[in-house]
Amino acid sequence: MTDITYLGHSAFLVETGGKRLLFDPFLSGNPLAADIDISTIKADYILITHGHGDHMADAETIAKACQATIISSYEVVTWFENRGVKGHPMNLGGKWKFDFGTVKYVSGVHSSMLPDGSYGGPSGGFVIWNDSDCFYHAGDTALTLDMKLIPITCPTLQFAILPVGDNFTMGYEDAVHAADYIQCDTVIGCHFDSFGFIKIDHKAAEEEFKNAGKKLILPTAGQKIQL
Ligand code: NI
Ligand code: MN
Repeated sequence: MTDITYLGHSAFLVETGGKRLLFDPFLSGNPLAADIDISTIKADYILITHGHGDHMADAETIAKACQATIISSYEVVTWFENRGVKGHPMNLGGKWKFDFGTVKYVSGVHSSMLPDGSYGGPSGGFVIWNDSDCFYHAGDTALTLDMKLIPITCPTLQFAILPVGDNFTMGYEDAVHAADYIQCDTVIGCHFDSFGFIKIDHKAAEEEFKNAGKKLILPTAGQKIQL
């Protein structure tokens, strides 16, 4: 059983392997997360899929408050290290065994640019596994055939966090195919509703998954999920 807290947009707090992993923190700029006080968020690690503001805006504040380690691309981690935040750099296709489990940084099809306009490196997603859990946070990505490599190279996924908002990432129709590629029937949607271009019809999205024999969870910010 994994404890997951949705923090809006693509931000999640997942407790696994005895550590608190925070993904893509973007709260202070997200009106849908206005009720969440970022000073209450405790994290041991902050995993950042790519350099866009809607995935890392609050990372520096939280990392410094919690003495957390940032895990991301070499370019994103170097940018944070220059701002006094410790990090563990990775690049696509690589995996590393941390004290909570293994992290594999897998490819995404998207762009990445840091807040000052500097190059953010690749855009990716994370597959995380240990003795009790295995899950995938896809970050921002198009549907890509590379997703078929995940079931070949990683343990069986218990759940996946996939973007479903369309326009900047794949939409929910493509996310159903993504769920097929990664061989995972339980999907938590992210990157939806936070701003105008990505507002979605929840009923239609849930139906699309249901018709494919899969489950789509569309949480609201602050919602706890146990899987
Ligand atoms: Ni992005
Ligand atoms: Mn984004």
